[in-house]
Amino acid sequence: MSKYLSRSLILITVLVHLFLLVGVPLLAQRSKTVAQAKLPKIPDVIVLAGKAKNGPVRFNHVKHNGGEYNADGPILCIQCHHTAQPAASLTGIPPHRTVWPSERTTTLTSELFAADPKNAGVASCRDCHARQGTKPKLLEFIPVIKDPETERETLIDNQNAFHTACDVCHFEIGFRTKGSKAPAADNCASCHKPASPKPKRRG
Ligand code: HEC
Ligand code: HEC
Ligand code: HEC
Ligand code: HEC
Repeated sequence: MSKYLSRSLILITVLVHLFLLVGVPLLAQRSKTVAQAKLPKIPDVIVLAGKAKNGPVRFNHVKHNGGEYNADGPILCIQCHHTAQPAASLTGIPPHRTVWPSERTTTLTSELFAADPKNAGVASCRDCHARQGTKPKLLEFIPVIKDPETERETLIDNQNAFHTACDVCHFEIGFRTKGSKAPAADNCASCHKPASPKPKRRG
C-alpha cells in the first residue's frame, strides 16, 4: 500500500468514528425533538382575532387555566372547551349537547392532558365556530342555537362564540369584584388592541 493510500484510509476511519461518536447521537437527538414538537401543548398566550378590524386579542391562556385567574375557584377546562366531556355530562345544560370526539368518555382536565396530550381531545374553537361564510373543519355547518321560547336562531360563528364565552364570566367577575381587571363587553379595546401602535408624530 502506498503511503498516500494508507494515510487516507486512516483519515476515513477517523471520520467514520467521529460521525458515529458525534453525528449519530446528534441526529437521534434531533429526531427526538421533532417527535416532541409534534405533541399538542397548552399554549401560554394565544393571539386571537388576527383578522379583526379593531385589532387582535392577546388571550393569556396560562393565567386563565393555571389558577391565577379565579372564578369561584380555578377555572375548569370545560368552562371553555365545552365539547371536551362525555355526552352524559351535558344533559341539563342546554343548548349544549355536542361532544368531540363524538364517542368520548373522558373530561378534559390538566391531569388528563398531562397524562396523554395526544388523546385528550382538545379542538380549536374555530374548527367548529368558523368565521361567517366559511365551512368549519370539524362540522358540516357553523353551529346554530335556537331559543326554546322565542324560537329565534343564533349563528355561533367565531365572533359570537368567543364574545359569549368570554363575556359571561367577565361580567360576573366585574359585577362581584370592585376594581376588577376583567374586560367589559362594551369596552372593545379592553381585549382588541391595535396590531402595532402607530408611531407618534412629532411637531
Ligand atoms: C373578552 C374580550 C373581547 C371583548 C371585550 C370584545 N372582543 Fe371582539 N373578539 C374577541 C375574541 C377572542 C374574538 C375571536 C376571534 C377569533 O380569533 O376567531 C373576537 C372577534 C371579534 C370580531 C370578528 C373578527 C373576525 O373578523 O373574525 C369582531 C368584528 C369583534 N370581535 C368586534 C368586537 C367589538 C366591536 C367589541 C366591542 C363592542 C368587541 N369585539 C369586544 C374578544 C373580545
Ligand atoms: C377561559 C377559557 C379557557 C380555559 C379555562 C381553558 N382554555 Fe384551552 N383554549 C382556550 C382558547 C380560546 C383556545 C384557542 C382556541 C382557538 O384557537 O380557536 C385554547 C386552546 C387550547 C389548546 C390548543 C389547541 C390547539 O388546537 O392548538 C389546548 C391544548 C388547550 N387549550 C388545553 C386546555 C386545557 C388542558 C385546559 C384546562 C387545564 C384549558 N385549555 C382551559 C380557552 C380556554
Ligand atoms: C367540536 C365542535 C366545537 C368546538 C371545538 C367548540 N364548540 Fe362551541 N359549540 C359547538 C356546537 C355544536 C354548539 C351548539 C350547541 C351544541 O350542539 O352543543 C356550540 C355552542 C357554543 C356556544 C353557545 C352556547 C350558549 O350557551 O350560548 C358558545 C358560547 C361556544 N360554543 C363557545 C366555544 C368556545 C369558546 C370554544 C373553544 C374554547 C368552543 N365553543 C369549542 C361546537 C363546538
Ligand atoms: C370563567 C371565567 C373566565 C372566562 C371564561 C374568561 N375569562 Fe378572561 N378573565 C377572567 C378573570 C378572573 C380575569 C382577571 C380579572 C382581574 O385580574 O381582576 C380575566 C382577565 C382577562 C383579561 C385582562 C387581563 C389579561 O390577561 O390581559 C383579558 C384580556 C381576558 N380575560 C380575555 C379573555 C378572553 C379573550 C376570554 C375568552 C376566550 C376570556 N378571557 C374568558 C376570567 C375569565
